[in-house]
Amino acid sequence: MNKDKIWLSSPHMGGTEQKFVNEAFEQNWVAPLGPNVNGFEEDLKKYLFDSSSKEGAVAALSSGTAALHLALVMLGIKAGDEVLCQSMTFAASANPIAYQGATPIFIDSEEKTLNLCPKHLRTAIEDRISKGKKPKAIIAVHLYGMPYQVDEINAIAKEFDIPVVEDAAEALGSTYKGERCGTFAEYAVLSFNGNKIITTSGGGALVTKSQSAKEKAVFLATQARDAAPHYQHSEIGYNYRLSNISAGIGRGQMQVVDERVKARREMHEFYVDLFSEIEGVKVHSAPNEDFFSNHWLSVVCLNEEETGGIKREDLRLHLEELNIESRPLWKPMHLQPVFKNAPFYGNGVAERLFENSLCLPSGSNLNQEEKDRIKAGILSCFKKQK
Ligand SMILES: Cc1ncc(COP(=O)(O)O)c(C=O)c1O
Repeated sequence: MNKDKIWLSSPHMGGTEQKFVNEAFEQNWVAPLGPNVNGFEEDLKKYLFDSSSKEGAVAALSSGTAALHLALVMLGIKAGDEVLCQSMTFAASANPIAYQGATPIFIDSEEKTLNLCPKHLRTAIEDRISKGKKPKAIIAVHLYGMPYQVDEINAIAKEFDIPVVEDAAEALGSTYKGERCGTFAEYAVLSFNGNKIITTSGGGALVTKSQSAKEKAVFLATQARDAAPHYQHSEIGYNYRLSNISAGIGRGQMQVVDERVKARREMHEFYVDLFSEIEGVKVHSAPNEDFFSNHWLSVVCLNEEETGGIKREDLRLHLEELNIESRPLWKPMHLQPVFKNAPFYGNGVAERLFENSLCLPSGSNLNQEEKDRIKAGILSCFKKQK
């Protein structure tokens, strides 16, 4: 273990971040508002909407989780409501349902994109309605940057008149049919956590369909202060705004976002090449050209019968010995102790993916020497046990 650790996904600065942060200090905008917050929101809005005919606005927030929570607040989700949510995801997609005192109803994935399965989604909606409760929202996730089946999910949402919250935390730079992820739903969520495609050290954004919805989100995110010279409140508010310092990092990062997407996609190609020499391992890739993934994390799926008995955990532990980080896919929410009583609709796809798939180092800053180490590590794992 004497070699430096190779991380799954680490922050990658572009060089101009510090300039924006310094400006914030020089102008004393050391607060959760200021020119960097406005500039970062503008950069994101341009990136998401300039190449599209859609309209939208962006509110910069303290995290993706805060953005998800505000989306549910804006949709009026309250105690006793039911909210449909992709089971295979990070806990942050589902936790805000519980913050509101609502019940999550978890839905299985399909194998093409690993995301929300339209078939099980429909079954769940029909079943919940037949039990007397129509779900109030659908949380759909573009996992590891791969767009979910947007047309199919949107068609079901429209048919039953249920709003979608698009969890694009991992999908900045991904597109579906040429439109950017983050623009497909009533509300969309981005994350700029340290491991994401771009980072503000910690931060997120809520994407809305209108400027007025954004203004409402900002109002709620700044303690819901009524227009009065004193502090007056008619609604429950939150302290969810992004700091002007963090937003400065974000402005620098937005200057290199396309390079970051390109580098992550090259890592995916690197694994496609590498595993073409290895039996029984499939690199998760776009099902067709409608789906353009930023490949935030590259994912491989192992078929034990074809790998000569090598399992996901064998590969993970082998890489760990070589100081190379890898990680099983998100453990599905319906298997989490904290959500053990929540209903689930599915037939084992997410569970199987969790058992046999692995996320591999995918950072945009991996150098040739690190790639060589990853390649040698993976090849030695499959040689050793064959
Ligand atoms: C799918 C998904 N949703 C939501 C979040 C929450 O974002 P944050 O960490 O910015 O709160 C993350 C990442 O952390 C995520 O991967």
